[in-house]
Amino acid sequence: MKLLVTGGAGFIGSNFVRHVARERPDWEIVVYDLLTYAGDARNIEGLEQVRLDQADICDADRLDAAVRLSDAVVHFAAESHNDNSLDSPWPFVQTNLIGTYQVLEAVRRHGVRLHHISTDEVYGDLELDDPAKFTPQTPYNPSSPYSSTKAGSDLLVRAWVRSFEVQATISNCSNNYGPYQHVEKFIPRQITEVLDGRRPKLYGAGQNVRDWIHAEDHSSGVLTILERGQLGETYLIGAEGEQSNKDVVELLLTLMGRDPGDYDHVNDRPGHDLRYAIDASRLRDELGWRPLYQDFERGLAATVEWYRQNESWWRAQKAQTEAKYEVLGR
Ligand code: NAD
Ligand code: DAU
Repeated sequence: MKLLVTGGAGFIGSNFVRHVARERPDWEIVVYDLLTYAGDARNIEGLEQVRLDQADICDADRLDAAVRLSDAVVHFAAESHNDNSLDSPWPFVQTNLIGTYQVLEAVRRHGVRLHHISTDEVYGDLELDDPAKFTPQTPYNPSSPYSSTKAGSDLLVRAWVRSFEVQATISNCSNNYGPYQHVEKFIPRQITEVLDGRRPKLYGAGQNVRDWIHAEDHSSGVLTILERGQLGETYLIGAEGEQSNKDVVELLLTLMGRDPGDYDHVNDRPGHDLRYAIDASRLRDELGWRPLYQDFERGLAATVEWYRQNESWWRAQKAQTEAKYEVLGR
């Protein structure tokens, strides 16, 4: 198998590449990644069967040359941070929509199998007391420039499947955590704030709920779908990990030996989605997938330890990220 992984030097893409390198040692993997501020070649260092092709998914010729030599493409590359999309939406339109269009045209030309990585945010948000969870049938209702461009990219994939018989599957996953996540995101931001002797920053009242899954479980879900998923289908990936932001911050502070009330409330995010929740029963029942990281507290403790041990990985991102948040009052 010759596998092309777009965005494979980012947080989840690199976790997937390390996962596949372990689980399928005879596969050849090409990571096709522009190495934007969010990509880091160190994330995939030392893996024998992995080669990095530093290029843009919007560069049609370069992408075509890479796709032509592949048996399958897993498409992670995206602008991924909601706060950035509110500040500057254009890169999201460019990479998430135009970039996905280029991926679709390349796999269509060469008859290559595609798995498209998406997010639960395409479904909008739920009330805190709503017993329903997102399913593959939930209507799309995205809130932010980020989630609307991801929703658009999913619709492009669906249209290319129906109109051009592109062999594709889609997965929509909930919030990931684990090692190698950029410090702009909630959990690593708070961990590194505490490591720097500062106070975590909770948007608004902190009642918002996210459905946390370890990146390793997301990766095993994607590999399962790539190998056994039904073409044309959408699978939701989630691990029953609903937690309010306030509970996560308080747990983190406790795990790190600080008073659980030692955090600040800061300006809320405009259009802030209230709650996400995933019903992953299709992936569990039809493909037999099971998450390994069932204990959020243990997974979080291991993630804290990773950031403690790997300051050299995150230190350069930290000052820039905090300067950006400072301007936004967040
Ligand atoms: P990330 O921001 O950490 O990584 C994105 C990667 O894509 C980086 O390596 C970056 O260099 C690369 N990239 C960006 N623009 C590119 C371009 N034009 N051409 C080539 N490479 C480019 O993101 P992440 O959190 O790892 O998310 C990966 C994917 O998973 C995204 O599609 C995202 O929508 C989806 N997703 C993320 C989560 C989450 O919790 N983070 C949950 C569900 C789905
Ligand atoms: O649901 C999947 C999505 O999860 C992915 O599609 C996105 O790529 C990923 O970034 C993530 O989106 P969120 O917006 O949910 O993640 P973020 O880490 O930015 O924020 C998580 C929650 O924490 C959200 O309710 C906002 C809040 N937050 C965030 C930051 C950075 C804070 O309270 N304080 C913070 O400092």
